[in-house]
Amino acid sequence: MTTSYSERFQDSTSVADYESKEYGEGSYASCIWNRQRPVVEKILADFRQQHSRPIRLLDFACGTGRVISALENQVDTAEGIDISENMVAVARGKCRAAQLRVGDILSQPELLQNKYDLITAFRFLLNVEPELRAKILRRLREVVSEPNGLLIVNVHGNSRSLRHPAIVWRRWRERSQPSGAMLNEMSPVVTKQLLRASGFKIVRQFGFGILPPTLYRTPLRKLAAAADGALAGEHSWNDYAIDMLFVCRPL
Ligand SMILES: C[S@@+](CC[C@H](N)C(=O)[O-])C[C@H]1O[C@@H](n2cnc3c(N)ncnc32)[C@H](O)[C@@H]1O
Repeated sequence: MTTSYSERFQDSTSVADYESKEYGEGSYASCIWNRQRPVVEKILADFRQQHSRPIRLLDFACGTGRVISALENQVDTAEGIDISENMVAVARGKCRAAQLRVGDILSQPELLQNKYDLITAFRFLLNVEPELRAKILRRLREVVSEPNGLLIVNVHGNSRSLRHPAIVWRRWRERSQPSGAMLNEMSPVVTKQLLRASGFKIVRQFGFGILPPTLYRTPLRKLAAAADGALAGEHSWNDYAIDMLFVCRPL
């Protein structure tokens, strides 16, 4: 039986694994976030300078609060929403002022209260069921402020990146006995089409992680991290980065 993405992080074991393994010290995901975080903070700092009004942030699918706890000090109000009570319970321990809610924005429209100047949605699009991607993005589009609101969203499994061969290999290896690991991919073209079709215009694109993540589990780890660090950012090769980050405005 397959687990839906809304159920995937409900139990406390998955939450603990997310914190201690996925984002454990020195993990690949942590390395990527260490590169991504200053970029997101700079985007927000620039946004703040251009924005005369108070900034209202919504972190959609906030999970254990990694993103919202990093950004809440840079905004005037911060709200996080997630479908998992257990994920949000961890986020509550990390956040100082953010309001955190549990629920489903599609069936409970009242969860989204107003227009948001900045919406973030990290590590959500790739693994959610494809039929829900556009529905959620369209709902977020309804609540982003116009014309200058921002959506910052990432896809952490680019099918055009050097992560792809490992995914193909794991799919083949697990063909008769699936491990439950998330082996999804999205291409840059499909992601851009999805954002556009959901009412967003991409204004900037960043890339993080060019080398295969498996290198991080070898003695070449430090070298790989240094090379990925040098290649990260806003470059012509972003469509080949494993983790693609898009900054969007309402169309
Ligand atoms: C991989 S975690 C990412 C958490 C956080 N954004 C981060 O980057 O660390 C994905 C999150 O999406 C949440 N989620 C899944 N389906 C959802 C839905 N329909 N509405 C809101 N959150 C959802 C899960 O509960 C989980 O916390």
